[in-house]
Amino acid sequence: MARLIFVLIILGYFGLTSPGRQLAGPIGQMPVGELLAELGDHSLDSHAPDHSVRNASAEAGKSIVFNGYGIKANGKKGKRVSRHFECIACHNVVREDPNLLDPDPEARLTYASEHQIPFLQGTTFYGISNRTSFYNGDYEKKYGELVDQARHNIREAIQVCATECSQGRRLKDWEVESILAYFQTIQLKFGDLEVSDQDRAVVTNALSGQSGRDEAVSLIKSKYLDHSPAHFVDPPADRKTGNQLEGDPANGKLIYDLSCMHCHENKRYSFFVLDNQKMTFRFLAHHFPKFTKHSIYQVGRYGTSPLMLKRAYMPNYPIEKMSRQQMEDLRAYIEAQAQG
Ligand code: HEC
Ligand code: HEC
Repeated sequence: MARLIFVLIILGYFGLTSPGRQLAGPIGQMPVGELLAELGDHSLDSHAPDHSVRNASAEAGKSIVFNGYGIKANGKKGKRVSRHFECIACHNVVREDPNLLDPDPEARLTYASEHQIPFLQGTTFYGISNRTSFYNGDYEKKYGELVDQARHNIREAIQVCATECSQGRRLKDWEVESILAYFQTIQLKFGDLEVSDQDRAVVTNALSGQSGRDEAVSLIKSKYLDHSPAHFVDPPADRKTGNQLEGDPANGKLIYDLSCMHCHENKRYSFFVLDNQKMTFRFLAHHFPKFTKHSIYQVGRYGTSPLMLKRAYMPNYPIEKMSRQQMEDLRAYIEAQAQG
């Protein structure tokens, strides 16, 4: 008898005996979207994939993101999305911000170095299903009208990146639904949110009973950003004196290795090769304060444009992706490496 009660308590804890849909596993592992739906909030339902579309699957979506093409149900490869890029050129697929409420690039760089992940211009796909607006802030300046359709529509947001960011083609329905299916597998989990014991009790009580659901929903939503802010900045007006901040070369090295090299090492995504040779650092140091296309102030803040025959380009870093301090850190590192 005692054993039976014990089993019932455990089942109750995992939510297996609660009425309605069954919850899988302990609450910490629960995807935030499912948790919200369970609590009666359906604002993220449109981010769920339409599984009735033939060939749509999370595996196909993952393959598009990592390899640049999907795999159909019969094992055949789909067409490449872009000749130049895979999505992971510019986006991580794991968590990248230690504080989900503060997209601080300095905290992110430390986190990236600890977790050995790249430090990139695009925002991570981890938790993208939990966001409700896309290409925020100044991306309107870059993508104009395209943003109107994409701002609150995750499917159009994906299409903008397939055609514009990736300089590729529009995706087929099965490819979009596959990417959405993959995104569902990398949602924020309840355990990712910074919650007190009291917060946790509010959520578990709302889940087991029927009351306090609205409160639990707002509480959950107050623990992460539902959008990724983006503000563009110009290079410093005087490139010689730069941002007038003391650079930290150790941080600069992290940016060089985790960001620049991610695309420029061995021509991975660019014909312009970066490596750790003194000659390369001398070249970069020479151009840094200049008004040339090889100035890192220039390409860092404005990016480069896709050219007619060579459509690979470099995305700019908004201030949320590289602070002014970090720009000077990078300069300090490059200048130190160029010396001697
Ligand atoms: C060359 C760089 C690059 C490539 C390649 C790229 N993206 Fe992006 N993507 C960006 C940038 C920059 C943004 C701007 C918003 C952000 O992520 O902060 C963005 C935004 C997005 C957004 C909206 C995110 C948000 O929160 O605003 C989605 C969705 C997206 N990309 C999907 C994709 C998919 C899917 C692929 C592959 C088919 C892809 N991207 C390839 C650079 C890129
Ligand atoms: C998401 C990929 C990506 C990242 C990250 C990236 N770049 Fe680029 N970069 C490119 C592409 C693509 C080009 C276009 C030139 C080409 O392909 O030949 C380019 C162009 C440049 C150019 C101009 C080259 C020319 O001949 O016009 C410089 C300089 C440069 N990058 C430096 C950097 C530095 C420094 C960093 C790190 C702060 C960095 N890049 C990060 C992809 C990237």
